[in-house]
Amino acid sequence: MSKQFLITTAIDYANGSPHIGHAYEKILTDVIARHKRLSGVPVKFITGLDEHGQKVQMSAEKKGVEPIEICDSLAGEFQSLCQRLNITNDDYIRTTEPRHKKVVQSVLQQLFDEGQIYKADYNGFYSIRQEQFVTEKERENGAWPQIYGEVIEVTETNYFFKLSQYQDWLIDFIKSNESIIYPRFRSADVLNFLKEPLNDLCISRPKERLSWGIELPFDSGFVTYVWFDALVNYITASGYGSDAFEANWPADYHVIGKDILSPPHAVYWPIMLKALGLEMPKHFLVHGWWLSSGSKMSKSDGHVVNPLDLIDTYGSDAFRYFVIREMNVGQDSEFSLDLFQSRYNSDLANDLGNLVSRLLNMGHRFADGTVPSSTIKEAEELTVLAHWSELKEHIFDLYDNFQFHKALEQIFAFVAELNRYTELRAPWKLAKSELDEDKQRLATTLAYMSEGLRLSAVVLSPVMPDIAAKVLNLLGSSSIDSYEGQLEWGNSLAGGTFGEKIILFPKNEA
Ligand code: MSP
Repeated sequence: MSKQFLITTAIDYANGSPHIGHAYEKILTDVIARHKRLSGVPVKFITGLDEHGQKVQMSAEKKGVEPIEICDSLAGEFQSLCQRLNITNDDYIRTTEPRHKKVVQSVLQQLFDEGQIYKADYNGFYSIRQEQFVTEKERENGAWPQIYGEVIEVTETNYFFKLSQYQDWLIDFIKSNESIIYPRFRSADVLNFLKEPLNDLCISRPKERLSWGIELPFDSGFVTYVWFDALVNYITASGYGSDAFEANWPADYHVIGKDILSPPHAVYWPIMLKALGLEMPKHFLVHGWWLSSGSKMSKSDGHVVNPLDLIDTYGSDAFRYFVIREMNVGQDSEFSLDLFQSRYNSDLANDLGNLVSRLLNMGHRFADGTVPSSTIKEAEELTVLAHWSELKEHIFDLYDNFQFHKALEQIFAFVAELNRYTELRAPWKLAKSELDEDKQRLATTLAYMSEGLRLSAVVLSPVMPDIAAKVLNLLGSSSIDSYEGQLEWGNSLAGGTFGEKIILFPKNEA
């Protein structure tokens, strides 16, 4: 079996409803997955839900229900978000599934049998919110930083995974694989973290404190630490233990937010894989946070924007466009409804939407609803052609290097160029002329507008799949499943039928 391009998102915590951060990560990953598929690469795209741990157990106790009821209901919410955002994931993994429990227990057993997991007494401080042990060095001016929430002192027996023995190997690995973390400046955070000696990782929680987890296969008094459990999802969903694993692993990209790079993804995960004798993931793509008034928009601080509301009002592609256009992958971005509306009105409704409706309008009035052929090439056409060649040359480099915001900026600059060209040619004036060359100019203008729009739709497909398909359809063409043969400027639409005039992006004041 040949290797598939494996791309994953983080799996979301089952302790709150989805928000824009979750939505963004899925859209970003989906854009990459779609772009790869259109480029002819077989893709496996995995996302899912992280269901165990103290927070889920505590919220279930509070509500007086079983933890699985909370998880089932949130799994429904998150999966419906995926559907509404048109996410093309090939799998949705829930960590409460038997297939996952089996893999977690099998890797724990392997590490235990090999002596890489040992039992020891531990006395220390434990952060309930972060579900991890914290050490004195984390205190700031004597107090625990706010992110840890309530910190309690505990003494207990637990199982530990020998992280520390891999510290030098990991430092070497990260230093010699410069491109493993994107953007690169984030490697510095990881290497900084690795300057201090690593502690072994406590991978168990005694059942009397936490029962909502996967039982250790070698000691039924304990469940597995939630991060250890969660990270394993990537290999479970890749078919660990079956033939399919070969065709999937290693992951090409783990797409994650900056808060979970170090230590879980950049320290625990590579070491777990190394200890298991498995290949390293090729890259971590680390995105920034959506902020609102400078704070993280997440459940715990109350700043929650429900993306579903904007999807309902404006449509999924408008939402996808906004987050991808606005965020420079790796940096944080400020979210505001004003910004959303202004992008929607100016880029989508005015530039793209108007071009489409003008073309359909004129196509029916001046060309009997049939896409004409271009027959002449004057200075106006040459400018459009030059702009397209320029865009064609750069667009995939931008996509391949995660410069999606720039890619969209450039595609919309091309759409603006098509609008300028239309104004310059003024087909409504040409239609009044009896001159033969004006008739040719009119036909050519409509053909150029159509071809320019077709090409814009092709390169917009990964980001706005529905709109792209609609535009192609309105031009008498069908939606695409490959870029191949689609990027050349030509007359392929000639003779096709224009669709009925529609408003692609209705103005909305909501
Ligand atoms: N369950 C863990 C991940 C385990 S992966 C093996 C987790 N869950 S989470 O629900 O808190 O976050 C899921 C993803 O959403 C993370 O990559 C996180 O960085 C991202 N986001 C959460 N809030 C965010 C923003 N406000 N903005 C952008 N993404 C952020 O962490």
